[in-house]
Parts: sequence; structure tokens; C-alpha cells
Amino acid sequence: MARRPLVVGNWKMNGTRASSQKLVADILAGLPGNSPVEVGVCPPAVFIPEIAQSLAGKSVRLGAQNVADQDEGAYTGEVSAPMLREFNVSLAIVGHSERRALYGETDALVASRYAKAIGHGLTPILCVGETLEERESDATFAVIDKQLGAVLDLSGVESLKQAVIAYEPVWAIGTGRTASTEQAQEVHGYIRGKIAALNAEVADGLQILYGGSVKPDNAVALFGQPDVDGGLIGGASLDAKSFLAICLSA
Ligand code: 13P
Repeated sequence: MARRPLVVGNWKMNGTRASSQKLVADILAGLPGNSPVEVGVCPPAVFIPEIAQSLAGKSVRLGAQNVADQDEGAYTGEVSAPMLREFNVSLAIVGHSERRALYGETDALVASRYAKAIGHGLTPILCVGETLEERESDATFAVIDKQLGAVLDLSGVESLKQAVIAYEPVWAIGTGRTASTEQAQEVHGYIRGKIAALNAEVADGLQILYGGSVKPDNAVALFGQPDVDGGLIGGASLDAKSFLAICLSA
């Protein structure tokens, strides 16, 4: 099956109301009409309502950087899937390594967030990836198994029909040190193989994105790998020109 490439910008905690509006306008202006590549942006939550207006009727998908593991109630600081749905949000990153490392999110919590996204019709972008220490101690696949396993145990392999996986080696995020094409393909192939052992059809249709210092000059080679179906872009997604160049590489 030919999988449609997907490129998503994760703006993280950057920008202002004005700069985020300009960024999205520049992206819309620069994307070709019937782009074969699916494109998404994940602004800071507070900018979502305005960006949703700019994206109304457009093909660029709107995403959130996280989603609550509950629908409503006394969960200070969280934003739920039903709230996001009110603003036409269709993607939600879960398990980003910054959430795991800086805010203590466990595999179990990430799996619950993922399940809520699925339950409310959002497409979760499940981030997985190892630290440098884990890679150097040959634990990469074990880490992926554990991170993916928590989600599969709770939501089942069929849920991946409605999800995207992003392989983001922690040591490549924001460091300028990208995984080599071989390193990326090796892990992407491993993930697809693992899913295929459970359900070949789901594995075949699953978009697996690479994230970690993707730039216009390395995107073509990374996206050219057989199991790399696009990217989750941090720093380079804050500049419309770079982001568009990456989108056109997919
Ligand atoms: P960078 O592209 O800045 O390395 O960030 C990648 C990332 O974390 C996307 O979610």
C-alpha cells in the first residue's frame, strides 16, 4: 500500500499570537494546491482557536501538543480531547520525549492519553524513542517495545489504524545531530515489523514519522527510506521557508 507522506510541525512553546498567525499564513501561501503530502501544525494550545480560524476550509491539519487522559473535571492545566475537537483539532501529539523527561509522563499515562485521543476521534501522534545512553547500551529496541507495548496493551493494535507513530531519538532532538538514514530506517523497520507480527494490514497502512533535527538539507534522504513516511519537525517548523522545503521533500 502506498502510504501518504505526512509532515507535522511541532511548534513547542514558541512564538506569539502575531508570529503564529503569520507562520500559518505563510505556510498556507506556500503550499501547492493539491499537495500529495499531508501537512499539519501543532501550535501552543492557547493559539489553537485563532489558528483554527485561519485553517478553516484548508487542507492543513491542526494538532495539539498533548491531550488529557480525562474528559473533564478537576485536572488543572490539562486540555481534553472534546475541548480540542471543538476547534477542529484532528491531531494530538502524545508521549513527546520532553513530556516524558521534563514532566515525568510515564508509559501508562501516555497510553491513557492516547486512548482518549482515539476515543474522541483525534489522531494521536505517539512519540517513541531512546536516549543516547539507552542507544549506547543497546537498549533501543527494548525501549521502543516498552513504549509501544503500553499503548498496544491498553488500546490494541487495531487502534493504530487511526494513529501515527513518530520515532524521535531523544539524542537527535534539538541537537542538530540527526539519526543517519540507516539508523532511522532500522528503527522504523523494526516498529513496522513489530506491528506487522500482530496485524499486517495495520502495519502496512501505518504512517511512521521521523523526528529529530530534520532540516531542509537532510529531509529528502530521511524521507526516502522505505519505512519513513514523513516527519515531526521542531525547530525548522518555526520558519515557513524551511518547513515548506521539508514538506516538499516528502
Ligand atoms: P527538532 O526538530 O527541533 O530537533 O525537534 C524535534 C521534535 O521534538 C519534534 O517533536
